Amino acid sequence: MSGNVEIMLSENALKVLEKRYFAKDEMGVVRENSEEMFRRIANAIASVNPQPSEREFLAEEYYRFMAGLDFLPNSPTIMNAGRPLGQLSACFVLPIGDSMPEIFDTVKATALIHQTGGGTGFSFSRLRPKGAVVRSTGGQASGPVSFMKVINASTDAIKQGGTRRGANMGILRVDHPDILEFIDCKMDLTQVTNFNISVAITDVFMKAVKENTDYDLISPNNGEVAGSLSARMVFDRIAHNAWANGEPGLFFIDTANRANPTPSKWTYEATNPCGEQVLGPYESCNLGSINLEKHLVRNTKGQYSVDWEKLTHSVYLAVRFLDNVVDANRFPIPELEEVNKGTRRIGLGIMGFARLLMYLEIPYDSEEGLEMAESIMSHIQEVAERTSQELAATQGPFPYFEGIGTKKRNSHLLTIAPTGTISMIADTSSGCEPEFSIIWYKNVMDGTHLPYTLDYFTEVAQREGFWSEELPSLIVKNHGSCRGIPQVPEKWQMVFATAHDISAPWHVRMQGAFQKYIDAAVSKTINMSQEATIEDVEKSYLLAYDLGCKGITVYRDGSRSNQVLNLGTGS
Ligand code: CDP
Repeated sequence: MSGNVEIMLSENALKVLEKRYFAKDEMGVVRENSEEMFRRIANAIASVNPQPSEREFLAEEYYRFMAGLDFLPNSPTIMNAGRPLGQLSACFVLPIGDSMPEIFDTVKATALIHQTGGGTGFSFSRLRPKGAVVRSTGGQASGPVSFMKVINASTDAIKQGGTRRGANMGILRVDHPDILEFIDCKMDLTQVTNFNISVAITDVFMKAVKENTDYDLISPNNGEVAGSLSARMVFDRIAHNAWANGEPGLFFIDTANRANPTPSKWTYEATNPCGEQVLGPYESCNLGSINLEKHLVRNTKGQYSVDWEKLTHSVYLAVRFLDNVVDANRFPIPELEEVNKGTRRIGLGIMGFARLLMYLEIPYDSEEGLEMAESIMSHIQEVAERTSQELAATQGPFPYFEGIGTKKRNSHLLTIAPTGTISMIADTSSGCEPEFSIIWYKNVMDGTHLPYTLDYFTEVAQREGFWSEELPSLIVKNHGSCRGIPQVPEKWQMVFATAHDISAPWHVRMQGAFQKYIDAAVSKTINMSQEATIEDVEKSYLLAYDLGCKGITVYRDGSRSNQVLNLGTGS
């Protein structure tokens, strides 16, 4: 098989790669191009394949898979495969025990993980509450939030992989006595800035919310009831803060534990920073995402449909690739290595879903959109499960297999990551999210910014006869959306949906549709308009819980003063 796949990288993608991913020498000079980068990754991952006879063939297959932008692994694999660090996973959870040595061991492990580009999640629920007695000193404990601040400060000092700042997730159970302080800890936007926070919500709490009753607070150090709170009051406060600045999120901890295939090893207490991986202590996951925009075929009439055959092969190859990553991975502390080899967890996901829907002429916020999500994800699930079962037949199941479910090579297979950077490299829409805007700005030579629309939108508008020179500026004035612009026919207004055109319940239903076929979790933002109310936030929470989602994050437009992506000016 010849290796000359044409690598079609956008200008933006090349900039990202040059800045963060290409290997550099000690002087910081780039020493790699995109072909060499994909070869480096493919060779490193194929070289650990258990059957030596397959290695050369797989190296070529993996190379073509990535160079064609059909699939990309998560950032740490791109940066570190075949290089000295060798740490390939994006997602980690570390335990925080209720003692100084345990806490500071974890601070150290966190620093080492951040250096390699991984993100870390923690449950602070085992820490005794603020004011509880510390036996050795007779003093008072400073409580979970104070230790989050310690990790936050240490994170500030370390840049991930020398390029990006570390990301953390802090989680506290809703029945921890310090829960109110935790819920408010990010209301001051200068505090714990390197953390996302989520409240671990129990079924008991949700029942109390629905029945408007009180629920008990439990001291983790002695298991005693330390008081009670009105569930509605706490629920309102979470929703209020999320409405005001996007945090905290919710983590449905009992839903997550009902899907635990290794209950004798651990119960889940935390997730990674973006919430798509619920992990046990010292557990990690390496991710990879299939670019759905590259899984379309066009017939002679110019109509697009899903290329199911190609998708089947991509899922098969991606599972093989990610399973090899488990063996190629190098961890900074031995506990991580042991647990990762125990579960062999991988996280195969997607990107470009919103683009795929546009080509198929299906609105994101429609029953047909949900059906397409289910068709694609159930197909991916079926092929991924089959591939992992086949690998188990030849190489054995994951060592922590407890006989729950079918015998597989990997404890978990599927997820949907945000794909924040890799979707930029692939030049497609991120994860399962809708496009944020159908218009961007291009920097031109003289420093001016010219608006330009999504290529496929321009193509359709010209073909269907509704293009005009002023259309881009009309879209800019319309917050990056074409909905409501009279010259755009209604059908296309629906097809070219943006995040803010889509009402919150549709966002939640889409998350729920994907979650049905995913053993890990889904990273998704429930975007809301500026006018959304606290009650709207609460309705989304209830819907997400009832649909079996493992968590939910809402974001009301404009609620954070330092909002990174402004409507119509995304890049
Ligand atoms: O696109 P990329 O592979 O860079 O990452 P992503 O899909 O946006 O994020 C996947 C996971 O990587 C997140 O859930 C975090 O666990 C981790 N991450 C991180 O540690 N630091 C970041 N700045 C971004 C992501």
